[in-house]
Amino acid sequence: MYRSHTCGELRESHIETKVTLSGWVQKTRDKGFVVWVDLRDRYGITQLVFDEDRTSSKLLEQARSLGREFVVQVTGEVIERSSKNPKLPTGNIEVLVDEVIILNESKTPPFTIENETDGGEDLRMKYRYLDIRRNPVKNNLIFRSKVSMEVRKYLSDQDFIEVETPYLIKSTPEGARDFVVPSRMNEGQFYALPQSPQTFKQLLMVGGMDKYFQIVKCFRDEDLRADRQPEFTQIDCEMAFVEQEDILDSFEGLTKHLLKEIKGVEISAFPRITYDDAMRIYGNDKPDIRFGMEFGELNDVAQHKEFGVFNSAELVVGIAVPGAASYTRKELDALVNWVKRPQVGAMGMVYAKYNEDGSFKSTVDKFYDQEDLAKWAEATQAKPGDLICVLSGDANKTRAQLSALRMELAERLGLRNPAEFAPLWVIDFPLLELDEETGNYHAMHHPFTSPKPGQLELLETDPSAVRANAYDLVLNGNEIGGGSIRIHDRGVQSTMFKHLGFTPEEAEAQFGFLMDAFQYGAPPHGGIAFGLDRLVSILGGQETIRDFIAFPKNNSGRDVMIDAPAAIDQEQLRELSLKLDLKE
Ligand code: AMO
Repeated sequence: MYRSHTCGELRESHIETKVTLSGWVQKTRDKGFVVWVDLRDRYGITQLVFDEDRTSSKLLEQARSLGREFVVQVTGEVIERSSKNPKLPTGNIEVLVDEVIILNESKTPPFTIENETDGGEDLRMKYRYLDIRRNPVKNNLIFRSKVSMEVRKYLSDQDFIEVETPYLIKSTPEGARDFVVPSRMNEGQFYALPQSPQTFKQLLMVGGMDKYFQIVKCFRDEDLRADRQPEFTQIDCEMAFVEQEDILDSFEGLTKHLLKEIKGVEISAFPRITYDDAMRIYGNDKPDIRFGMEFGELNDVAQHKEFGVFNSAELVVGIAVPGAASYTRKELDALVNWVKRPQVGAMGMVYAKYNEDGSFKSTVDKFYDQEDLAKWAEATQAKPGDLICVLSGDANKTRAQLSALRMELAERLGLRNPAEFAPLWVIDFPLLELDEETGNYHAMHHPFTSPKPGQLELLETDPSAVRANAYDLVLNGNEIGGGSIRIHDRGVQSTMFKHLGFTPEEAEAQFGFLMDAFQYGAPPHGGIAFGLDRLVSILGGQETIRDFIAFPKNNSGRDVMIDAPAAIDQEQLRELSLKLDLKE
């Protein structure tokens, strides 16, 4: 028996009990006549004590020889600590050791394995197994497991069935590039790893499974960001015989359950906003509604004077930044430079201070009088003490720029409180999106999303006006889920492919299996997929999903611990009928 108790378990009630513990040596403190060792496992830390009066000199020597991260098994008696540590659950006791067995030695770890570590990101990723011994990482993984458990519990209780779908498939378009896998047995042919199980879950509905879910890996070859990994996990769900309302209802239920069970937060009905309104009011289809700073459109009250920049703009739009009228000239210049950074891309920024005394002072006082500026204040809902920031130009670009500024200022002002949870549904997404570069339309969600009833005809005349039965679930400014009601009619699906630029032959080659299935009694169906990594990290009060993934990839898509991706040898290439000619 390696252990009778864990290192997080012993309390005063165990005093005088003989115990055996196993774990890692976190720290040894040698005071000469007494040696303390902190023994750690997944459950906590227990202090071990060895001293001249009660411990043999041989054992004391052995205690002194224990290095950091040695794996040891100790047996001893639980005693009361003379100086207690109220910060530790085991802080009232210690174990007076009478036997130590070294189970394995350890090299000195490359960084300290404590809550605050001296290891940089790269080093910690290379030795991720050591990083996982640290509380912040370990706790995130435990937290993730708890969320997954609650998801399974809730959905199973609602009669959802978990079905596994294959990973070696062919392209499922979700807007990213595919990762491909060469087939040895089928020379020159490739599988694609699923960007999502989208087509399979629809086939499960044709198969009569009715309510499906799966906690499943998805693979997307796209640029990485804090909230993106090339392989990530979805809570993928689909239901048959449902309308949009049924889906929103079911998954609002799941999200509420998680907020309640995991965070103890109760939220009544989630607000809903249309895509158009989200773009108009927040410049963003995943608005963070924990704070205001809603957009005020100023065309009507800013294009009547001789200020050419505004007059030539498609959109003049502003936000009121709470309390920021007190910003110094230096701070304001820095803010203007911030919006001019290439990542934001504004040409400049006009601002007006709404002073506490009710007067205004703006960078465009030459053009606008106090009465004009009062109208700006009204449109942006500014109060005395606020700063009105105004951007102008092409409508879409300006909205995106002001949205970036809104988020940045909210962050700086501490308005993005991670302990507060503000979910909302964004609905009525456009069905299609124009690719500015190619001039082609592509599906905003994916090609299986159905247009709103009665809008199919609009596809011919005004494609960008067609709205979809598509919805996103947004939590604290992050898209944590998205889904749609699907097309379940072969004819409609063919029309859709046509509009997306597929020839009938291409559509047949790529999605013939799905269109065939639609001919055998496909029920009306729809679904949603949550990004589990994102959901977990936001519930955990953070936005970097890497911290909640046991073995994540770095920003170049590499696993630096196992050193992947890596070249493969000639023999393996030959078996796969692949030739690598880097000269080409
Ligand atoms: P979508 O592409 O919106 O929909 O993906 C669903 C959710 O998955 C998460 N997500 C990601 N998380 C981490 N890294 C990534 N690279 C990444 N990409 C997406 C997001 C997103 O909301 N098949 C459809 C769902 C459906 O229609 O039912 C789909 O995959 O949180």
